[in-house]
Amino acid sequence: MTRTARSRKHKGFDLEKRLAAAAAAVEREPAAWLGRWHAWAAPGAPAPVGGWRRVVVDLGCGKGAATVAMAAAHPDTLFVGIDAEPVCTLQSAEKAVAAGLPNAVFPLVEDPWLPDLFAPGEIDRLVMNFPTPHPKKKHATLRLTHVDRLIAYRPLLAPGAALLLKTDSDPFLQFSLEELALARYRVVRATHSWRAAHPDAPETEYEAKLVAKGAPVLAVEAAPTAEPAPDPRKIVQTAHASLYDYLPANLDELDYVPHGMEGAVENMRNHARRLAEKQAAGAHGEIAR
Ligand SMILES: C[S@@+](CC[C@H](N)C(=O)[O-])C[C@H]1O[C@@H](n2cnc3c(N)ncnc32)[C@H](O)[C@@H]1O
Repeated sequence: MTRTARSRKHKGFDLEKRLAAAAAAVEREPAAWLGRWHAWAAPGAPAPVGGWRRVVVDLGCGKGAATVAMAAAHPDTLFVGIDAEPVCTLQSAEKAVAAGLPNAVFPLVEDPWLPDLFAPGEIDRLVMNFPTPHPKKKHATLRLTHVDRLIAYRPLLAPGAALLLKTDSDPFLQFSLEELALARYRVVRATHSWRAAHPDAPETEYEAKLVAKGAPVLAVEAAPTAEPAPDPRKIVQTAHASLYDYLPANLDELDYVPHGMEGAVENMRNHARRLAEKQAAGAHGEIAR
């Protein structure tokens, strides 16, 4: 079993107690704010005068370091950091409370589905930093950039609003670009070195961890086209469901193995090496005969 933040928690860890201590930045009833996020305030805190200028959603925010740093840098904007792991929600909220920020909030929601939480046009920017890649074919629909999800995000984005995806994984980027086209988004920009153009932007926890291992920061920014949203039931899928299908045939061409694919790529490399050795031995045997 993969060890998750939940399973790593130490003995004596009391999630509820810690959530209560970070209550000012935890939103336990996020659906109640649907259509009203521009006026969000923690219980007992004053409502923002004139409302928040923008609402930015950080989907899969992890432990919230970048969400909180962005909130500190943009005090007129509300940052809503959403993560499926309650421990991540907790750690993010604790950072916001420690920084005394009124404009960072972390909904406690187990299976986040954005249309249940936001009204049409309510999101001014949707950020997905290093989403879980789920490389296996059977997990394709769990990817945050699966076409069904991208279609669901479309109406929630304010006119002119864009989504930003950052990833270390070229296969994930290629899959996402195909899904964006199917969901009728236009690519505003795409880059293989996002960090070079944004040297001062806060790093996420995963960016720091993966870049230290040699990862590139790949990114795409995209906005819905003016066309009507496609019907998810009529989509003819063109992307590969397995991210392994986006790897080069010769794995020696891979300078960096994307996060989540390390074990499988090692197995594939070992398999290819054993096959080559077998073939070489066979050829050698033939020459000897
Ligand atoms: C690889 S981590 C990246 C975290 C953070 N964005 C960063 O860059 O450090 C992916 C995060 O997405 C969360 N996640 C996975 N599926 C999700 C979903 N459907 N909705 C929200 N969060 C999700 C995971 O719990 C995990 O914290």
